[in-house]
Amino acid sequence: MLRSKMFALLSVFLLSISWEATSDLDHENFLHCLLNHSQPSYPISTAIYTPNNESYSSVLQSYIRNLRFNMSTTPKPLLILTALHESHVQAAISCAREHNLQMKIRSGGHDYEGVSYVSDVPFFVLDMFNLRSIDVDVASETAWIQVGATLGEVYYRVSEKSKAHGFPAGVCPTVGVGGHFGGGGYGNMMRKYGLSVDNIIDAKMVDVNGRLLDRKSMGEDLFWAITGGGGSSFGVVLAYKINIVRVPEVVTVFRVRRTVDQNATDIVEQWQQVAYNIDDDLFIRLTMDVVNSTTRIGEKTVRTTFRALFLGDSERLLSITNASFPKLGLLRSDCIEMSWLESVLFWTDFPLGTPTDALLSRTPQSLVHLKRKSDYVQKPIPRDGLEGIWKKMIELQVPQLTFNPYGGKMWEIPATERPFPHRAGNLWKIQYATNWNEGGQEEANYYIDLTRQLYSYMTPFVSKNPRQAFLNYRDLDLGINHNGKESYLEGRVYGIKYFQVNFNRLVKIKTKVDPGNFFRNEQSIPTFPYRKK
Ligand SMILES: Cc1cc2nc3c(=O)[nH]c(=O)nc-3n(C[C@H](O)[C@H](O)[C@H](O)COP(=O)(O)OP(=O)(O)OC[C@H]3O[C@@H](n4cnc5c(N)ncnc54)[C@H](O)[C@@H]3O)c2cc1C
Ligand SMILES: *[C@@H]1O[C@H](CO)[C@@H](O)[C@H](O)[C@H]1NC(C)=O
Ligand SMILES: *[C@@H]1O[C@H](CO)[C@@H](O)[C@H](O)[C@H]1NC(C)=O
Ligand SMILES: *[C@@H]1O[C@H](CO)[C@@H](O)[C@H](O)[C@H]1NC(C)=O
Ligand SMILES: *[C@@H]1O[C@H](CO)[C@@H](O)[C@H](O)[C@H]1NC(C)=O
Ligand SMILES: *[C@@H]1O[C@H](CO)[C@@H](O)[C@H](O)[C@H]1NC(C)=O
Ligand SMILES: *[C@@H]1O[C@H](CO)[C@@H](O)[C@H](O)[C@H]1NC(C)=O
Repeated sequence: MLRSKMFALLSVFLLSISWEATSDLDHENFLHCLLNHSQPSYPISTAIYTPNNESYSSVLQSYIRNLRFNMSTTPKPLLILTALHESHVQAAISCAREHNLQMKIRSGGHDYEGVSYVSDVPFFVLDMFNLRSIDVDVASETAWIQVGATLGEVYYRVSEKSKAHGFPAGVCPTVGVGGHFGGGGYGNMMRKYGLSVDNIIDAKMVDVNGRLLDRKSMGEDLFWAITGGGGSSFGVVLAYKINIVRVPEVVTVFRVRRTVDQNATDIVEQWQQVAYNIDDDLFIRLTMDVVNSTTRIGEKTVRTTFRALFLGDSERLLSITNASFPKLGLLRSDCIEMSWLESVLFWTDFPLGTPTDALLSRTPQSLVHLKRKSDYVQKPIPRDGLEGIWKKMIELQVPQLTFNPYGGKMWEIPATERPFPHRAGNLWKIQYATNWNEGGQEEANYYIDLTRQLYSYMTPFVSKNPRQAFLNYRDLDLGINHNGKESYLEGRVYGIKYFQVNFNRLVKIKTKVDPGNFFRNEQSIPTFPYRKK
C-alpha cells in the first residue's frame, strides 16, 4: 500500500519537474519502469538524475575527463542512474531492454573518446561511482574491489594494510577500476607483474538477463572476456577480485631529461636496445615533447624524459644502469628512494613530499581537451628514422610521444591468456598525446589532425597487418560500429587491431551471452552476423 502510494507520488513529482522537457512517451515509460523496479530497502528514486534536476549537470560533469566532451554541443543523457545497489543495475538493464534504449556504463569516466557518457543516439548513463568499496585481505594476498573505486584508492588501501604490497595498474590515480581492468590496464610494474588483468582472479557482474554472476557461475569464457575484452560488450561488472603483489619497502625513482641538442638521440638509441631486456625490476618510460632550444635562441628542439620506477634501492639501480644503460649517465643524485606508495605520487607529477592521501582525491590535478592514439614497435627505429621523427615533431609542435617498454612478464604470458594480445614480439608501445586548452570544435579538429599527422608519419616504424592498438587507449579513428546490419564487418576493423587472434573468441562469447547485442557501443564486440532461425 505505502509503496504504491509512494511510487505514484514520486512519479508525478519526477514527471512534472523533470520529464516534460523530453515529453517522449517511451522515455516516460522508461522512468516509470525504473521506479517500478525499486526495492523497498534500496529505493531507486534517490539515484535518478533527470535533466531538470539541479544536480544533473554536476553529476554528469564530475566524471568527464576529456573537456572535448564537455561542450554545449556534446549529446547529453536522458537521465543518469547513479547505482547505489546491484538491484539498480538490474533495473537499468531490464528497463533499457524493454524500452530499447542505449545504455552507457561509466565507472571513472576516463575513456579517451567519452564512450562511457556520450552517444549519437538517445541514451542514458549507468554511473557506477558510488559502488567503490575496497576489501584487502593481506593474509591471502587478495582484494575485492568494486568498479567505482579509483586506482589511487586501490593503491592507498592496499598500502594502508601492508607496506610490502602493491598492485600493477595505471599511473594516473583518478582512473576508474571498471574501465581500466575491463580493458587490460598497464602501469610501471608491468615488466615485473604483467597487466592488471594478469592478476585478476574473480569478478562479479550482471548479465543481459539481470543475473548476478561470479567467475564460477559465469564460466571461464565470459570471465576471460571481461578481463581485457572491454567489459561493456558483455555486461555490467560490479567488482573484481585481484591478487595483490609484493613490493619492497624502498623503491627508487628518477626523472632524467635531455634535449636532442644535448645528444639525446644517442641515449634514445641505447634505450631502444635495453629498455625491454633490462632487469624486470626496472621500468624506464621515455617521453618526447617539443621545447624551446636553450642553445639556439628562437629555435625548437625535442626534449626526452626518462622516468623510471625501480623495485629496489639506488645502489642496485646504479649498478644496473652503469652496466646496461651507460649512455643515460645516471647519477646517484638523480635517484630518489621512497615508499612504493610515494612513487605513485612521483609518477603522476605531485611535488615531492605531497601527503599520500592526495591519492584519495577524485579530482584530477588538471583537465584538458585531448586526443590519444597508440601503436606497437617491433624493431628498433634506425638513427635516421629518429632524426626524421624529431623533425616532424618540431614541425607539428604539440603532439607528444611516449614509449612504454615491454619484455619481462609481458613476454612470458601467451597472447591468448587474456583478450589483450600484445605480448612477445612487441618491444614497446607508443602513446600519441595531444592536449589543448581552447574549447570549440574547430580547435579540436586542428589538434586532432596534428595527432593523425604524426601517427601517419610513424607508419614505417610500427606494427602492420594489423597495425595493433591498445583498447584502453580508445581511438575512434580505428573504426566505429553503427550496430546495424554491418555490425560484424565494422567490428572486425577495430576488433582485429585491439585483439588480433583473440577477436574471434570474443565474438563467439558475445554471440552466446548477448545474442541481441544489448551491450553495445561505438567499439563494442559484435555478434556473428548469421543466426539460426
Ligand atoms: C589521465 C589518464 C591516464 C591514463 N593512464 C593509463 C595508464 O597508465 N594505463 C592504462 O592502461 N590506461 C590508462 N588510461 C586509460 C584508461 O585505462 C582507460 O580510459 C579506462 O578505460 C578508464 O577506465 P574508467 O573506468 O575511468 O573509464 P570509463 O570512461 O568509465 O569507462 C571506459 C570504458 O569501460 C566501460 N566500463 C566502465 N565501467 C564498466 C563496468 N563496470 N562494466 C562494464 N563496462 C564498463 C565503459 O562503458 C567504457 O566503454 C589513462 C586515461 C587517462 C584519462
Ligand atoms: C509496474 O509493475 C506492475 C506490476 O508489476 C505492472 O502491472 C505495471 O505495468 C508496471 N508499470 C510500468 C510502467 O512498467
Ligand atoms: C534532485 O534535486 C533535488 C533538489 O532540487 C535534490 O534534493 C535531490 O537530491 C536531487 N537528486 C535526486 C536523485 O533526487
Ligand atoms: C564543463 O562545462 C561547464 C558548462 O560550460 C562548465 O561550467 C565547467 O566548468 C566545465 N568543466 C570544466 C572542468 O572545465
Ligand atoms: C655530445 O656529444 C659530443 C660528441 O660525442 C660531445 O663532444 C659533447 O660534449 C656532447 N654533449 C653533451 C651535452 O653531452
Ligand atoms: C618559447 O619561445 C617563444 C618565443 O620564441 C616564447 O613565446 C615562449 O614563451 C617560449 N616558451 C617557453 C616555455 O619558454
Ligand atoms: C655508477 O657510475 C657512477 C658514475 O660513473 C659512479 O659514481 C657510481 O659509483 C657507479 N655506481 C655503481 C653502483 O657502479
